[in-house]
Amino acid sequence: MSINDYTKAEGVSQLPSDETEKQLFIIEQLHEQMQADYARTGKKKTYHVVTFGCQMNARDSEKLAGILERIGYAETDTEDADFVIYNTCTVRENANLRVYGRLGQMKRTKQRHPDMLIALCGCMMQEPLVVDKIRKSYRHVDIIFGTHNIFKLAELIQTRLNTGKMVVDIWKDTNQIVEDLPNERKYSFKTGVNIMFGCNNFCSYCIVPYVRGRERSREPKDIIREIERDVADGVKEVMLLGQNVNSYGKNLEHPISFAKLLQEIEKIEGLERIRFMTSHPKDLSDELIAVMGQSKKICRHLHLPLQSGSSRILKLMNRKYTKESYLDLVDRIRKGCPDISLTTDIIVGFPGETEEDFLETMDVVEKVGFDSAFTFIYSKRTGTPAASMENQVPEDVVKDRFDRLLKLVQQKASDASARFTGSVQKVLVEDVNEHDETMVTGRMSNNLLVHFKGTPDLIGQIVDVHLEECKGFYYIGNLSE
Ligand code: SAH
Ligand code: SF4
Ligand code: F3S
Repeated sequence: MSINDYTKAEGVSQLPSDETEKQLFIIEQLHEQMQADYARTGKKKTYHVVTFGCQMNARDSEKLAGILERIGYAETDTEDADFVIYNTCTVRENANLRVYGRLGQMKRTKQRHPDMLIALCGCMMQEPLVVDKIRKSYRHVDIIFGTHNIFKLAELIQTRLNTGKMVVDIWKDTNQIVEDLPNERKYSFKTGVNIMFGCNNFCSYCIVPYVRGRERSREPKDIIREIERDVADGVKEVMLLGQNVNSYGKNLEHPISFAKLLQEIEKIEGLERIRFMTSHPKDLSDELIAVMGQSKKICRHLHLPLQSGSSRILKLMNRKYTKESYLDLVDRIRKGCPDISLTTDIIVGFPGETEEDFLETMDVVEKVGFDSAFTFIYSKRTGTPAASMENQVPEDVVKDRFDRLLKLVQQKASDASARFTGSVQKVLVEDVNEHDETMVTGRMSNNLLVHFKGTPDLIGQIVDVHLEECKGFYYIGNLSE
């Protein structure tokens, strides 16, 4: 039944009971309203999505943009828009501070433009104290929702327009996965695909399990169908997303391993590259290493967060592996997939971290030689077990360790990256170069960027590029004939 059939048969007030149908129905109602406004004013309404945080949030923003486009809003690249939405992150304190800063500025924008709507969603909104603060101190916000109900955006907009009041709708958790809603990909040739939501690991420093809820895997058939549609629509590369992809499928009615899912996805004709994120070291199986080793499509890159090189700290972090088992895993991966690029995340200054603990982290970085590493200063997240641990490390000590780690990481990354100099690599061209219009920028299978002379028509194509010179963490190359 189409949306128009519903309108005719059941009257506008009667909503379909299926969640997807219901949301599509409301989107259509808003679309009609929007067209009527357009006929009256001759002005198309605009939207702008600001995304903080990880790939999971970036993917959610594509879904939000999809709904807004379907309603009839046109994208604009400034926050001076008719609808502005902040998709927030709360993994570290400074992510929150940035959002408050932006909201403060928006107060003035809204005074100039009183009809605009401001919405907030994402991980930060799952924290009751944050929502209290916004209700009290940021009254110019129109809609607040969380991570579990982004599919409801159209309904929330409708409620806001009908009531004229601030709409707040946060769910504590959910077991619902709403499929088949609109979606607006940022790039035509690559996209993220959620394979699971939430996290059950409760690393002691991390707020994600509290704001993203319990782990839920999508059915393989839904994932495959989504990727097949994306590929039919021009997608060449997918990034499978989950907080711990290695535990994918364990709780499905018919359990399936992540490695098996990869094998199924590999069969999709026309799909050329498969990436995934993130792999928790504790669950990375030999089966996965074997599948990666044989695959033609899985990219030669693995992001394997270390967090700390000290087994004592890893235990306090509840990571469930040791320094030795991590190093052993790296050996097995490198044996099974020679030339793979390894990247990582490291936290400095976890409560109780001593100089000896820190030197263990430096030792792992030295031994593994990561191709790149994201280094973070530990940030205390209220409600997590680590927040109430004693011996929080003084700021100056943390800063000193952070600087030493960053130096080593950069030196190792630049050594590791340079090993491909002189080779020819397949590159998926992503953009015109930011600084030089005669060049384009693409990504190698191992995730490194390469800049080379080329024209915009190459965007979205996979081409052979000769790597001339390594500039630390990117390459300058030449299109190979
Ligand atoms: N699920 C992923 C990580 C998601 S959060 C995994 O397990 O690897 C991304 C990164 O943020 C983490 O890997 C960690 O390094 C960092 N992070 C998480 N909580 C943090 C905190 N409280 N302080 C500093 N960094 C943190
Ligand atoms: Fe956070 Fe750990 Fe879950 Fe990653 S695995 S999201 S670090 S709790
Ligand atoms: Fe941030 Fe939420 Fe991702 S807290 S890192 S946006 S899952």
